[in-house]
Amino acid sequence: MTRIHDVLSILADGQFHSGEVLAQKMGVSRAAIWKTLKKIEDFGIEVHRVTGKGYRLPFQLELLNSDSIIGFLDENVASHVAIPEVHMQLDSTNHYLMSRPDLGHGHICLAEMQTAGRGRRGRTWQSPFGGNIYLSMLWEFGDGMSRPGGLSLAAAIAVTRALEDAGIGNVGLKWPNDILVQGQKLAGILLEMNGELAGSCRVVVGIGLNVYLPHEQRTEIDQAVTDLYKLMGKMPPRNQLVAGLINHLYQVMRSYEVSGLAHLQEEWLQRDVYLNQPVLLGSADKKVAGFNRGINEQGELILQLRNGQIAHYSGGELSLRLDSVE
Ligand code: BTN
Repeated sequence: MTRIHDVLSILADGQFHSGEVLAQKMGVSRAAIWKTLKKIEDFGIEVHRVTGKGYRLPFQLELLNSDSIIGFLDENVASHVAIPEVHMQLDSTNHYLMSRPDLGHGHICLAEMQTAGRGRRGRTWQSPFGGNIYLSMLWEFGDGMSRPGGLSLAAAIAVTRALEDAGIGNVGLKWPNDILVQGQKLAGILLEMNGELAGSCRVVVGIGLNVYLPHEQRTEIDQAVTDLYKLMGKMPPRNQLVAGLINHLYQVMRSYEVSGLAHLQEEWLQRDVYLNQPVLLGSADKKVAGFNRGINEQGELILQLRNGQIAHYSGGELSLRLDSVE
Protein backbone atom coordinates (compact mmCIF):
# COMPACT_ATOMS: atom_id res chain seq x y z
CA MET A 1 0.00 0.00 0.00
CA THR A 2 2.82 2.43 0.81
CA ARG A 3 4.32 2.09 -2.67
CA ILE A 4 0.92 2.62 -4.27
CA HIS A 5 0.44 5.69 -2.11
CA ASP A 6 3.91 7.03 -2.99
CA VAL A 7 3.46 6.55 -6.74
CA LEU A 8 0.02 8.17 -6.54
CA SER A 9 1.54 11.09 -4.63
CA ILE A 10 3.89 11.70 -7.58
CA LEU A 11 1.14 11.28 -10.18
CA ALA A 12 -1.22 13.49 -8.14
CA ASP A 13 -0.02 16.60 -10.00
CA GLY A 14 -1.80 15.36 -13.14
CA GLN A 15 1.45 15.70 -15.18
CA PHE A 16 3.24 12.99 -17.16
CA HIS A 17 6.00 11.03 -15.38
CA SER A 18 8.07 8.46 -17.23
CA GLY A 19 8.53 4.97 -15.84
CA GLU A 20 12.23 5.70 -15.55
CA VAL A 21 11.76 8.86 -13.47
CA LEU A 22 9.18 7.14 -11.25
CA ALA A 23 11.62 4.27 -10.69
CA GLN A 24 14.43 6.69 -9.85
CA LYS A 25 12.31 8.72 -7.43
CA MET A 26 11.08 5.59 -5.67
CA GLY A 27 14.45 3.83 -5.70
CA VAL A 28 12.99 0.67 -7.28
CA SER A 29 13.14 -1.06 -10.68
CA ARG A 30 10.94 -0.09 -13.62
CA ALA A 31 9.32 -3.52 -13.38
CA ALA A 32 8.30 -2.73 -9.80
CA ILE A 33 6.79 0.57 -10.98
CA TRP A 34 4.91 -1.22 -13.73
CA LYS A 35 3.46 -3.68 -11.18
CA THR A 36 2.44 -0.82 -8.90
CA LEU A 37 0.74 0.99 -11.78
CA LYS A 38 -1.12 -2.21 -12.56
CA LYS A 39 -2.33 -2.42 -8.95
CA ILE A 40 -3.42 1.22 -9.12
CA GLU A 41 -5.48 0.38 -12.20
CA ASP A 42 -6.94 -2.64 -10.41
CA PHE A 43 -8.29 -0.16 -7.85
CA GLY A 44 -10.32 1.32 -10.68
CA ILE A 45 -8.06 4.36 -11.04
CA GLU A 46 -7.56 5.42 -14.62
CA VAL A 47 -3.89 5.90 -15.56
CA HIS A 48 -3.17 7.47 -18.96
CA ARG A 49 -0.14 6.01 -20.75
CA VAL A 50 1.44 7.81 -23.70
CA THR A 51 4.50 6.39 -25.40
CA GLY A 52 7.46 8.72 -25.01
CA LYS A 53 5.77 10.72 -22.23
CA GLY A 54 4.93 8.21 -19.52
CA TYR A 55 2.02 7.99 -17.12
CA ARG A 56 -0.42 10.46 -15.64
CA LEU A 57 -3.74 10.62 -13.81
CA PRO A 58 -6.64 12.16 -15.72
CA PHE A 59 -6.97 14.89 -13.09
CA GLN A 60 -5.00 16.62 -10.37
CA LEU A 61 -5.57 14.99 -7.04
CA GLU A 62 -4.85 16.04 -3.49
CA LEU A 63 -4.39 12.82 -1.55
CA LEU A 64 -5.71 12.81 1.98
CA ASN A 65 -3.07 13.35 4.60
CA SER A 66 -3.59 13.39 8.36
CA ASP A 67 -0.93 16.07 9.06
CA SER A 68 -2.47 18.35 6.52
CA ILE A 69 -5.98 17.77 7.93
CA ILE A 70 -4.76 18.50 11.48
CA GLY A 71 -3.22 21.74 10.24
CA PHE A 72 -6.68 22.98 9.24
CA LEU A 73 -8.50 21.88 12.43
CA ASP A 74 -9.72 24.46 14.92
CA GLU A 75 -7.56 24.37 18.05
CA ASN A 76 -10.36 23.31 20.40
CA VAL A 77 -11.33 20.50 18.02
CA ALA A 78 -7.77 19.28 17.43
CA SER A 79 -7.26 18.91 21.17
CA HIS A 80 -10.36 16.71 21.51
CA VAL A 81 -10.22 14.36 18.55
CA ALA A 82 -7.71 11.64 17.73
CA ILE A 83 -5.32 12.09 14.80
CA PRO A 84 -7.45 11.18 11.77
CA GLU A 85 -6.59 7.74 10.38
CA VAL A 86 -6.25 7.85 6.59
CA HIS A 87 -6.48 4.57 4.68
CA MET A 88 -6.01 3.99 0.97
CA GLN A 89 -8.76 1.37 0.98
CA LEU A 90 -11.27 0.02 3.49
CA ASP A 91 -14.46 -1.97 3.11
CA SER A 92 -16.33 0.81 4.89
CA THR A 93 -15.08 3.53 7.22
CA ASN A 94 -18.24 3.05 9.31
CA HIS A 95 -17.69 -0.69 9.55
CA TYR A 96 -14.04 -0.15 10.46
CA LEU A 97 -14.92 2.01 13.47
CA MET A 98 -17.89 -0.17 14.47
CA SER A 99 -15.73 -3.29 14.47
CA ARG A 100 -12.95 -1.82 16.61
CA PRO A 101 -14.06 -1.72 20.26
CA ASP A 102 -10.54 -0.61 21.19
CA LEU A 103 -11.05 2.74 19.46
CA GLY A 104 -12.62 5.46 21.53
CA HIS A 105 -14.41 8.75 21.56
CA GLY A 106 -13.37 11.21 18.85
CA HIS A 107 -11.67 8.61 16.67
CA ILE A 108 -11.81 9.61 13.00
CA CYS A 109 -11.22 7.46 9.98
CA LEU A 110 -11.05 8.26 6.25
CA ALA A 111 -10.45 6.14 3.17
CA GLU A 112 -9.54 7.05 -0.40
CA MET A 113 -11.89 4.29 -1.53
CA GLN A 114 -14.36 1.83 0.01
CA THR A 115 -15.01 -1.63 -1.34
CA ALA A 116 -18.30 -2.04 0.54
CA GLY A 117 -19.47 1.50 1.23
CA ARG A 118 -22.78 1.48 3.09
CA GLY A 119 -25.70 3.77 2.40
CA ARG A 120 -29.00 4.18 4.16
CA ARG A 121 -31.74 1.58 3.77
CA GLY A 122 -29.24 -1.20 3.09
CA ARG A 123 -28.01 0.42 -0.09
CA THR A 124 -24.47 0.51 -1.42
CA TRP A 125 -22.66 3.83 -1.33
CA GLN A 126 -20.61 4.11 -4.51
CA SER A 127 -17.07 4.71 -3.25
CA PRO A 128 -14.55 4.76 -6.08
CA PHE A 129 -11.06 6.10 -5.71
CA GLY A 130 -10.91 9.43 -7.41
CA GLY A 131 -11.25 12.13 -4.87
CA ASN A 132 -14.52 11.67 -2.96
CA ILE A 133 -14.67 11.92 0.80
CA TYR A 134 -15.56 8.94 2.97
CA LEU A 135 -15.33 10.02 6.59
CA SER A 136 -16.48 8.45 9.86
CA MET A 137 -16.31 9.74 13.40
CA LEU A 138 -16.83 7.76 16.59
CA TRP A 139 -18.74 9.31 19.47
CA GLU A 140 -19.38 7.76 22.86
CA PHE A 141 -22.42 8.84 24.81
CA GLY A 142 -21.70 7.94 28.45
CA ASP A 143 -25.10 8.23 30.05
CA GLY A 144 -27.36 7.09 27.28
CA MET A 145 -28.90 9.03 24.46
CA SER A 146 -32.59 9.67 24.61
CA ARG A 147 -32.92 11.18 21.12
CA PRO A 148 -30.79 9.23 18.65
CA GLY A 149 -33.06 10.12 15.73
CA GLY A 150 -32.09 13.76 15.72
CA LEU A 151 -28.38 13.08 15.67
CA SER A 152 -28.16 12.31 11.97
CA LEU A 153 -30.04 15.53 11.22
CA ALA A 154 -27.56 17.43 13.36
CA ALA A 155 -24.69 15.84 11.42
CA ALA A 156 -26.33 16.90 8.16
CA ILE A 157 -26.34 20.50 9.39
CA ALA A 158 -22.62 20.21 10.11
CA VAL A 159 -22.03 19.12 6.50
CA THR A 160 -24.02 22.05 5.11
CA ARG A 161 -21.99 24.48 7.23
CA ALA A 162 -18.69 23.00 6.00
CA LEU A 163 -19.87 23.17 2.40
CA GLU A 164 -20.86 26.80 2.78
CA ASP A 165 -17.42 27.59 4.22
CA ALA A 166 -16.00 25.96 1.09
CA GLY A 167 -17.99 28.39 -1.06
CA ILE A 168 -20.95 26.20 -2.08
CA GLY A 169 -24.20 28.17 -2.07
CA ASN A 170 -27.80 27.04 -1.64
CA VAL A 171 -27.05 23.83 0.19
CA GLY A 172 -30.37 22.22 1.11
CA LEU A 173 -31.49 19.35 3.32
CA LYS A 174 -34.02 16.62 2.69
CA TRP A 175 -35.31 14.72 5.68
CA PRO A 176 -33.79 12.80 7.31
CA ASN A 177 -30.25 13.63 6.24
CA ASP A 178 -29.66 14.06 2.51
CA ILE A 179 -27.59 17.06 1.47
CA LEU A 180 -28.73 18.47 -1.86
CA VAL A 181 -27.70 21.23 -4.22
CA GLN A 182 -30.02 22.18 -7.08
CA GLY A 183 -32.18 19.18 -6.20
CA GLN A 184 -29.28 16.76 -6.69
CA LYS A 185 -27.67 14.72 -3.94
CA LEU A 186 -24.21 15.90 -2.98
CA ALA A 187 -23.71 14.07 0.31
CA GLY A 188 -25.33 11.53 2.60
CA ILE A 189 -25.01 10.44 6.20
CA LEU A 190 -25.22 7.02 7.76
CA LEU A 191 -25.43 6.70 11.50
CA GLU A 192 -24.66 3.35 13.07
CA MET A 193 -24.68 2.58 16.76
CA ASN A 194 -24.22 -0.14 19.31
CA GLY A 195 -24.62 -0.31 23.06
CA GLU A 196 -27.76 0.63 24.90
CA LEU A 197 -29.73 3.77 24.33
CA ALA A 198 -30.33 3.98 28.07
CA GLY A 199 -26.73 3.18 29.01
CA SER A 200 -23.44 3.81 27.31
CA CYS A 201 -23.65 3.94 23.58
CA ARG A 202 -21.15 4.15 20.69
CA VAL A 203 -22.27 6.01 17.63
CA VAL A 204 -20.45 6.17 14.32
CA VAL A 205 -21.38 9.09 12.08
CA GLY A 206 -20.42 8.37 8.47
CA ILE A 207 -20.33 11.09 5.85
CA GLY A 208 -20.08 10.42 2.13
CA LEU A 209 -19.40 13.54 0.06
CA ASN A 210 -19.24 13.44 -3.73
CA VAL A 211 -16.19 15.38 -4.84
CA TYR A 212 -15.52 13.75 -8.19
CA LEU A 213 -17.91 10.99 -9.17
CA PRO A 214 -16.85 9.23 -12.37
CA HIS A 215 -19.50 8.59 -15.02
CA GLU A 216 -19.32 4.82 -14.45
CA GLN A 217 -20.41 5.17 -10.80
CA ARG A 218 -22.96 7.88 -11.54
CA THR A 219 -24.88 5.46 -13.72
CA GLU A 220 -25.09 3.01 -10.80
CA ILE A 221 -27.01 5.50 -8.68
CA ASP A 222 -30.80 5.61 -9.04
CA GLN A 223 -31.26 9.24 -8.08
CA ALA A 224 -30.05 12.64 -9.28
CA VAL A 225 -26.53 13.24 -7.98
CA THR A 226 -23.96 15.98 -8.24
CA ASP A 227 -20.37 16.50 -7.13
CA LEU A 228 -18.15 19.37 -6.04
CA TYR A 229 -16.06 19.18 -9.20
CA LYS A 230 -19.15 20.02 -11.21
CA LEU A 231 -20.37 22.71 -8.80
CA MET A 232 -16.99 24.43 -8.39
CA GLY A 233 -15.51 23.77 -11.83
CA LYS A 234 -12.36 22.39 -10.21
CA MET A 235 -11.18 19.90 -7.59
CA PRO A 236 -11.47 21.46 -4.12
CA PRO A 237 -8.64 21.26 -1.55
CA ARG A 238 -9.73 17.99 0.01
CA ASN A 239 -7.70 18.10 3.23
CA GLN A 240 -9.06 21.52 4.10
CA LEU A 241 -12.55 20.36 3.25
CA VAL A 242 -12.21 17.30 5.49
CA ALA A 243 -10.97 19.51 8.33
CA GLY A 244 -14.01 21.76 7.83
CA LEU A 245 -16.29 18.73 8.07
CA ILE A 246 -14.58 17.56 11.26
CA ASN A 247 -14.65 21.06 12.82
CA HIS A 248 -18.37 21.46 12.22
CA LEU A 249 -19.23 17.87 13.07
CA TYR A 250 -17.45 18.16 16.39
CA GLN A 251 -19.22 21.43 17.28
CA VAL A 252 -22.62 20.09 16.30
CA MET A 253 -22.15 16.81 18.21
CA ARG A 254 -21.16 18.77 21.33
CA SER A 255 -24.22 20.97 20.97
CA TYR A 256 -26.41 17.89 20.44
CA GLU A 257 -24.98 16.22 23.54
CA VAL A 258 -26.02 19.19 25.67
CA SER A 259 -29.32 20.27 24.16
CA GLY A 260 -30.36 17.85 21.42
CA LEU A 261 -31.72 19.48 18.28
CA ALA A 262 -33.10 22.51 20.14
CA HIS A 263 -30.50 24.97 18.80
CA LEU A 264 -30.38 23.39 15.36
CA GLN A 265 -34.06 23.00 14.53
CA GLU A 266 -34.48 26.51 13.10
CA GLU A 267 -31.41 26.10 10.86
CA TRP A 268 -32.78 22.81 9.59
CA LEU A 269 -36.12 24.39 8.67
CA GLN A 270 -34.37 27.16 6.74
CA ARG A 271 -32.59 24.56 4.66
CA ASP A 272 -35.47 22.09 4.28
CA VAL A 273 -35.92 21.83 0.51
CA TYR A 274 -39.41 20.30 0.76
CA LEU A 275 -40.83 22.51 3.53
CA ASN A 276 -44.61 22.91 3.04
CA GLN A 277 -44.48 20.92 -0.19
CA PRO A 278 -46.63 17.88 -1.03
CA VAL A 279 -44.54 14.80 -0.36
CA LEU A 280 -44.65 11.03 -0.32
CA LEU A 281 -43.08 9.30 2.64
CA GLY A 282 -42.03 5.78 1.76
CA SER A 283 -40.94 2.69 3.64
CA ALA A 284 -40.29 -0.75 2.14
CA ASP A 285 -43.98 -1.66 2.02
CA LYS A 286 -45.98 1.55 2.41
CA LYS A 287 -46.31 5.12 1.15
CA VAL A 288 -47.97 7.99 2.97
CA ALA A 289 -48.92 11.25 1.23
CA GLY A 290 -49.11 14.63 2.89
CA PHE A 291 -47.48 18.02 3.35
CA ASN A 292 -44.02 18.33 4.82
CA ARG A 293 -44.38 20.61 7.88
CA GLY A 294 -40.76 20.37 8.99
CA ILE A 295 -39.28 18.59 12.00
CA ASN A 296 -39.82 18.56 15.75
CA GLU A 297 -37.15 18.65 18.46
CA GLN A 298 -36.68 14.89 18.24
CA GLY A 299 -35.82 15.15 14.55
CA GLU A 300 -39.11 13.49 13.57
CA LEU A 301 -40.74 14.50 10.32
CA ILE A 302 -44.00 16.39 10.81
CA LEU A 303 -46.38 15.29 8.11
CA GLN A 304 -49.80 16.82 7.62
CA LEU A 305 -51.85 13.99 6.20
CA ARG A 306 -54.45 14.42 3.46
CA ASN A 307 -57.22 14.40 6.10
CA GLY A 308 -55.55 17.32 7.89
CA GLN A 309 -54.23 15.29 10.81
CA ILE A 310 -50.64 15.75 11.92
CA ALA A 311 -48.42 12.67 12.15
CA HIS A 312 -44.81 12.34 13.31
CA TYR A 313 -42.35 9.90 11.72
CA SER A 314 -38.87 8.78 12.66
CA GLY A 315 -36.52 6.11 11.49
CA GLY A 316 -33.60 5.70 9.13
CA GLU A 317 -35.54 3.33 6.86
CA LEU A 318 -37.93 5.99 5.59
CA SER A 319 -37.39 8.18 2.57
CA LEU A 320 -39.11 11.29 1.32
CA ARG A 321 -39.82 12.55 -2.15
CA LEU A 322 -41.91 15.22 -3.79
CA ASP A 323 -45.42 14.13 -4.63
CA SER A 324 -45.81 15.13 -8.24
CA VAL A 325 -49.56 14.47 -8.37
CA GLU A 326 -50.35 17.68 -6.44
C1 BTN B 1 -26.85 7.65 2.37
O1 BTN B 1 -27.31 6.59 1.89
O2 BTN B 1 -27.26 8.74 2.02
C2 BTN B 1 -25.76 7.57 3.40
C3 BTN B 1 -24.40 7.40 2.79
C4 BTN B 1 -23.26 7.38 3.79
C5 BTN B 1 -21.96 7.03 3.15
C6 BTN B 1 -20.80 7.16 4.09
S1 BTN B 1 -19.24 7.10 3.27
C7 BTN B 1 -18.44 7.03 4.80
C8 BTN B 1 -19.24 6.10 5.68
N1 BTN B 1 -18.85 4.73 5.43
C9 BTN B 1 -19.84 4.03 4.88
O3 BTN B 1 -19.76 2.82 4.56
N2 BTN B 1 -20.92 4.79 4.70
C10 BTN B 1 -20.70 6.13 5.19
